[in-house]
Amino acid sequence: MNEERNAISGSEKPVWVTKPYLPPLEEFQEYLRDIWDSRWLTNNGKYHQALEKALCEYLGVKYISLFSNGTLALVTALQALRITGEVLTTPFSFVATTHALWWNNIKPVFVDIEPDTFNLDPNKIEAAITPKTTAILPVHVYGNPCHVESIKEIADTYGLRVIYDACHTFGVTINDIPILKYGDLAVMSFHATKVYTTFEGGAIVCHEEATKKRIDNLKNFGFAGETTVVAPGINAKMNEFQAALGLLQLKHIDKVIEQRKLIAQQYREGLKNISGLRYLDDTLGTKHCYSYFPILIDKKKFSKTRDELYEELKRHNIFGRRYFYPLISQFSTYCGLESAQIGKMLVAEKVTEEVLCLPIYPELENKIIPLIIDIISG
Ligand SMILES: Cc1ncc(COP(=O)(O)O)c(C=O)c1O
Repeated sequence: MNEERNAISGSEKPVWVTKPYLPPLEEFQEYLRDIWDSRWLTNNGKYHQALEKALCEYLGVKYISLFSNGTLALVTALQALRITGEVLTTPFSFVATTHALWWNNIKPVFVDIEPDTFNLDPNKIEAAITPKTTAILPVHVYGNPCHVESIKEIADTYGLRVIYDACHTFGVTINDIPILKYGDLAVMSFHATKVYTTFEGGAIVCHEEATKKRIDNLKNFGFAGETTVVAPGINAKMNEFQAALGLLQLKHIDKVIEQRKLIAQQYREGLKNISGLRYLDDTLGTKHCYSYFPILIDKKKFSKTRDELYEELKRHNIFGRRYFYPLISQFSTYCGLESAQIGKMLVAEKVTEEVLCLPIYPELENKIIPLIIDIISG
């Protein structure tokens, strides 16, 4: 087996943690020609309008405002609700979650995560609320839903806003309710590494027409009319090429998620009963999107540390990623904050040392999954 393993991994192409799904080029060329001929490249063009409508239908939400990327959507979401002061957030995410607060001059206050979902722990939120707290910015990390009802209850009790960073989710539902319906706003990313991609891209989901209008103004320099500017808005508009790709991707997305699900099932089957290794299972009643496949390595029980396994996989041309290591609170920009101090978020500090995301994407070759399982099994 060892020889076979080395032969496959030594001679073949590198396997990355993800690879974007793209529809057949011919399908996109039709859209390209139309955009070329029309000369309407951006600024709420017909594909932009069509994609907002199509996404609302597919995702089961009322209003969507498209963005050039998820980071600017997060920055704008905070501005749309005039969030100030302090915001409670998770350290276990991609750094853009906290950067969006920094760009708005808001102080991030980190709160620990739960051991079973790696999402913000609702039981630890109240202790972090101060008179300056105005909002909570949780992340549905790896696409797995936060405890949305508990978070809503706390937010309602304390009069806080909730903005979900839903950048890892696409089409996720709990008991048939779209996860995007929770919170005052939910922010999506359509970056190339995501389940659903428009090259770069993002969106804000909101529930009222007036909010959508304000968000639309903010992403277009603050223009509320031809000669009226109501805020120092940014340029974060999605262009027609991105929107056209988005429309095409919607035709394929169910198949893409189904293929990801099959890979997750294969990993779970192959990796069960390995001492010191755990992974997340599907939650009853939840439709998942399988954006990542994280495993956790307990170095005391597993034969190697997480980093040793990560290096071992690399030697076989398999490039997992340590999402999310280090914690956002451990980066130099944020580690000076009181809430970021080591020892304050014991669960997050442990998870960040143990987690490794394995390759998962529709075109992952069938022979690679047993190979990865074999390397991990040792
Ligand atoms: C949790 C999270 N938030 C925000 C972002 C930023 O999105 P974008 O890359 O589209 O700016 C990303 C990823 O890219 C992410 O994973």
